[in-house]
Amino acid sequence: MTIAFILNGEDVTVDTEPDRRLIDILRSDFKLYGAKCGCLSGVCGACAVILNGSVSSACMVPAFRVRGSEVITIEGFSLTNDYNDIIRGFNLHDVENCGFCGAAKILLTETLLAEKELPQRDEILSAFNSVRCRCTLGQNLADAVIAAAKIRQRRRGERKR
Ligand code: FES
Ligand code: FES
Repeated sequence: MTIAFILNGEDVTVDTEPDRRLIDILRSDFKLYGAKCGCLSGVCGACAVILNGSVSSACMVPAFRVRGSEVITIEGFSLTNDYNDIIRGFNLHDVENCGFCGAAKILLTETLLAEKELPQRDEILSAFNSVRCRCTLGQNLADAVIAAAKIRQRRRGERKR
C-alpha cells in the first residue's frame, strides 16, 4: 500500500506492507538512522520519534498507523532553534546524550515544553520515568529541562521585541 505522511516537515509517500514497522521505514526507505533498533519491543526507547505531537516508539508503530500523520525524527528536530535550546539546557546540567537514549530525552523534552512553557519538576520526573538512562540523575534532568524552558522563553521574548 502507498502511505502518505509528513516527515520532518515534508510531504512524503512510501510503498510498503501495512504492518511494516515505522523504524524500518525510517531507516531503510528514508536513510534516517537517528531512531535506533534496540529491543524492538517498545521497552528501551532507542527508537523514539515524535508522532502527532507525542513521543512514540517507532518499533511499535505499524505503517498503516502512519498514514496522514506527522512524524519528526531527531534529524529533523536537530535543525531547529527549539533543539538548540534543549541542548543548551542539557549542557548546563551535564545531561549525557548517547546514541541509545539521546533522541528519547531530547524529543521528550520537546513534547513537554510544547505542552507547557515551564513544566513543574514532578511533571518532568514522571515523564522521564519512561527513559532508560543510567548516566544522568533525575534531578539533573529536571534542572536541564527547566533551564531549556527558560532559555526558550528568553529567546522567544527577544524575538518579539
Ligand atoms: S527499539 Fe526499543 S523501544 Fe523501540
Ligand atoms: S546517556 Fe544514554 S544511556 Fe545514559
